[in-house]
Order: sequence, then C-alpha cells, then structure tokens
Amino acid sequence: MKVLHIIATPRDLHSNTMPVTAAFLEGLRDRYPDLSVDTLNLFAEDLPAVAGDNIETKYTLLIGKPIDKRHKESWEQIERLIAHFLSADIYVITTPMWNFSIPYALKYYIDSIIQPGYVYRYNEQGQPVGLVHGKKMVCITSRGGDYSDQGPFHAYDFQEPYLRAIFGFIGISDMHFINAQPMDVTQLLRETAIASALNAVHDLVSTVAWDSNPTIIDLNLPAALKPKPLPL
Ligand SMILES: Cc1cc2nc3c(=O)[nH]c(=O)nc-3n(C[C@H](O)[C@H](O)[C@H](O)COP(=O)(O)O)c2cc1C
Repeated sequence: MKVLHIIATPRDLHSNTMPVTAAFLEGLRDRYPDLSVDTLNLFAEDLPAVAGDNIETKYTLLIGKPIDKRHKESWEQIERLIAHFLSADIYVITTPMWNFSIPYALKYYIDSIIQPGYVYRYNEQGQPVGLVHGKKMVCITSRGGDYSDQGPFHAYDFQEPYLRAIFGFIGISDMHFINAQPMDVTQLLRETAIASALNAVHDLVSTVAWDSNPTIIDLNLPAALKPKPLPL
C-alpha cells in the first residue's frame, strides 16, 4: 500500500500542520507495517510549466486531437507528474489555509495534474467523468482562525469545499478531513486545536479499512453512458 504525502506548506519544521500529519502517518505505519510513503514537497519541487506549450497541448487534448512532436517532450513532464500521482493508493495532503483557500503551490500542482484523458473525460453527453478510482484521500489542514461548522466564519472556508470538489471531480470519493483550528488566536486555543486534531487522527487511523477499495461513485450515469477509455 502506497501513500503519496503531498506537502503544501513551506514552513518545514515550523509548520503547524505537519505534526498532525506526522501523527497520522505514524499511526498508519503502526497498523500497516508494509506501508510505503512517498513525499512530494510542493514548495521544494520544480514542477513543469502549465503555460506555454503545455497549455496548448491541454486544449489539443480537449478537442480530441493527437499531440504533435513539437509539444510532446514538454508534455512528458506533465505525464510523469500524473503517473506519479496515480501510482499511490492513498493521498495525504498537508496544507494550511491561505486566504480562505489553498496555497498557490498546491493550486499549481492541481493545475498540472488535472488533465483531460488522464484523470477525467467528458462523455458523449458532455458530462465530466472522473477516471481516478479506488483511491483514498486524507486532507490535513490548519487554519489561523476557526471555520468550523457552527462558527460565524464557516462560509469563508473555500479550502475544504474546493478540495472536495476538485478531487471528487476526478473520481476520488473516499475523502477525509482533519482541520486543526484556530491555530493563531491564543496559545491555549492552539493547544486545544492540536489536541482535538490528534484525537481525530487516532479515530481516523483506527476506524477506516485503509487497505480496502472505496465505493465508486460514477455520477449515476445509466449503463449506456458509462465512460470508455480515451485514446491518449
Ligand atoms: C499567506 C498566508 C495566508 C493565510 N491566510 C489565512 C486565512 O485566510 N485564514 C486563516 O484562518 N489563516 C490564514 N493563515 C494562517 C495559516 O492558515 C495558519 O497559520 C496555519 O496554521 C499555518 O500552517 P503551517 O504552519 O503548516 O503552514 C494564512 C497564513 C499565510 C502565511
């Protein structure tokens, strides 16, 4: 079982979020000793360009045309990134909230890997169909303030809904969130938030069968409209 740990904080050892993820990964390793964890530190990676040749290739693919020779070499970097993403069984994303949403490095990664024909396609009816099935995702976030369900700032949380939407769009239906909050108000509130996040980690590690495949949600399409693989 392979975990891809996607790190979207630039704060390394000072990170508020990382200790929560570290506890999650430690718990998972205790339960599944053969677990392998691959780390992708987005603020330390040189990700392929989204603009330039690659943006034109994306539009070429969207209209179902083959990639020409001139664009192929550059596009292979995107393909390698997607292949790396698809090689995992479980995704763990460590991300702070930045300006109510996600840090730009995570958005950039998403812009790189969410490509037509690889992780989603449009069917004959023009409906999007996710192509990434059988995976689980855990998003461990932390926020300076409190955006929890009952609080007055819940509506400003564009982070969890966005991550649920974009990864749900490509077919990942088995998603879990642990949001540590508020981290930057007082020391006491931070300690309470971390303790509560660590409790949530304990529950999550022990209650989910991490080695089972999730239920596939396929947008309730009738059998005739089920996706066929695209010629890439
Ligand atoms: C650029 C930037 C933007 C931020 N925007 C928000 C925000 O919109 N809401 C919030 O509650 N906290 C915000 N914060 C605070 C972080 O979410 C908070 O400190 C978090 O715990 C940091 O996690 P980290 O140490 O793992 O990076 C922001 C921090 C930075 C650096």
